[in-house]
Amino acid sequence: MYGAGHTEELVGRAIKGYKRDEVFVISKVWHNHLRRDDLLDSARKSVQRLGTYMDLFLVHWPNPSVPLQETIRAMEEVAEQGLTRYIGVSNFSAELLDEARSSTSKYEIVADEVKYSITDRAAEKDVLPYCEKNSIALIAYTPIEHGKISEGPIGDALQKVAKKYSKTPVQVALNWLTYHEPVIAIPKASKKEHIVEDAGASDWRLSSEDFEFLAKARRIFTKRVNSP
Ligand SMILES: NC(=O)c1ccc[n+]([C@@H]2O[C@H](COP(=O)([O-])OP(=O)(O)OC[C@H]3O[C@@H](n4cnc5c(N)ncnc54)[C@H](OP(=O)(O)O)[C@@H]3O)[C@@H](O)[C@H]2O)c1
Repeated sequence: MYGAGHTEELVGRAIKGYKRDEVFVISKVWHNHLRRDDLLDSARKSVQRLGTYMDLFLVHWPNPSVPLQETIRAMEEVAEQGLTRYIGVSNFSAELLDEARSSTSKYEIVADEVKYSITDRAAEKDVLPYCEKNSIALIAYTPIEHGKISEGPIGDALQKVAKKYSKTPVQVALNWLTYHEPVIAIPKASKKEHIVEDAGASDWRLSSEDFEFLAKARRIFTKRVNSP
């Protein structure tokens, strides 16, 4: 799906100079490879391209034409064979996530990767509460709305808080997301200055007052998409 696997080769090269336990490598299997044999083959090829085992392997999207139990059992086999340490899913609703969890026999589903940002609240309806309740990581993709988070209507509020902490609006938007216990944000950045800025979103914490201030601001500005 990502560069027909070439991205994995690049990741493999990029991490060569690091101790293996200093990086956490995640890859995914595309939804047309969710039958057992296809899935195992995909996982083996991912590992081959990466040149190392995966820390976390995700089902990229659900596929209603393949029984979920077959897919999840195959994911467990991937872990059993040492190709990945953990297994998880992506773009799964809370209901499907629950079904996936009931299909496991030996391994836990440790993560659900879904779209979530300070201005997109859909995940808050059921996925976030489910993950919070069951100690599952919610990996938030597109967490800065393709770099446009501070251009949106929430921009003024982000700017105000950013000034207070000597941070940037993007850093505040990312920190706000990870204020929720199970959330890990994965902004994509290819420019070095973006990578440095995004990395500066962690290792500090908004006060509860500022968290609430932003929560209130975005309630006013964002449409209440499936809001709780
Ligand atoms: N599981 C899924 O189905 C799924 C779906 C979509 C995305 N994802 C994953 O989620 C990750 C992130 O999502 P995304 O790429 O859709 O959206 P995103 O992270 O919200 O936005 C990425 C864009 O923001 C820019 N950017 C990064 N840091 C910035 C900063 N500090 N200031 C201004 N602009 C900044 C990047 O520019 P530069 O690249 O020029 O630095 C890039 O154009 C991706 O790596 C992707 O793998 C997963």
